[in-house]
Amino acid sequence: MNYRHAFHAGNFADVLKHAVLASVISYLQQKPGAIRVIESHAGGGLYDLGSLTAARTSEWRDGIGLLADPLDAKAEAVLTPFRDALSALRAGHGPNIYPGSPLICQQMLRADDRYIGAELHGETNWQLKTALNKDKRFKVLLMDGWQVLRANVPPKERRGVVLVDPAFEAADEWQVTAREVIAAWRKWQTGCFIVWYPLKNPRQADDLARDFRDADVVNAVRLELIVDDLAAAEKLAGCGLIVINPPWTLRDQAEALLPALALRLARSRKAGFRCEVIAG
Ligand SMILES: C[S@@+](CC[C@H](N)C(=O)[O-])C[C@H]1O[C@@H](n2cnc3c(N)ncnc32)[C@H](O)[C@@H]1O
Repeated sequence: MNYRHAFHAGNFADVLKHAVLASVISYLQQKPGAIRVIESHAGGGLYDLGSLTAARTSEWRDGIGLLADPLDAKAEAVLTPFRDALSALRAGHGPNIYPGSPLICQQMLRADDRYIGAELHGETNWQLKTALNKDKRFKVLLMDGWQVLRANVPPKERRGVVLVDPAFEAADEWQVTAREVIAAWRKWQTGCFIVWYPLKNPRQADDLARDFRDADVVNAVRLELIVDDLAAAEKLAGCGLIVINPPWTLRDQAEALLPALALRLARSRKAGFRCEVIAG
């Protein structure tokens, strides 16, 4: 476990993931019933973009750093829940912070909504608990995220979202991700699952999508954001999300958001995006 999200917080991949997460939560909250967020790989929760750690890579400058000015109106409408959460969190924690997914959830969840997440790295787990400041709606476990996912689906609320955001360090992490998400979906077929992945070798993403299709997942979209030449770039140049049971609005939202993000965050003319139904 060498991966530390603090080096990458606020990069283009975080922007896409957190914008979609916030949009899904906002959609689920259109109904009054409580929701549950389950997160298998939670991270540290709160990141200082002015820190030496962030300065080592400066990845946020090519991500959230390029979003100070608004995108076009349709894309901004999709970004609203994310931007609102970010603004509120910056008002509370300072203008240089970037929130991880648990803090975005903390900002958005209502009194009866609940979050359970796993973070296996000891110091990062402690940072997350500190950032959440004993919020009773939140439970953070120092455990393997797959174990936590297995034990908590379906949640008693029966409505909610699972965020799966592994570090993709281990050689078998793609296969494990497919296996564990499929097992969790079989237990909770109405839950929304957001699965993040890096785009290095696009065949890995094709295989993941095929694994979900072969498992008879019936409703899923594949969204990808590419900011540079995938084959040549030294840094991460693309990422994707497979969203199982997306809100019916998500595909149209992605078609508005992805081209605008690709244009704004492009590092070269190889930037682009993908938005397709993989099952449904
Ligand atoms: C990509 S980061 C998570 C970022 C977070 N989801 C966000 O969007 O702000 C992945 C995290 O998973 C943690 N991790 C790695 N292996 C894990 C495991 N088996 N179970 C739980 N957490 C793990 C790492 O320490 C790291 O903090």
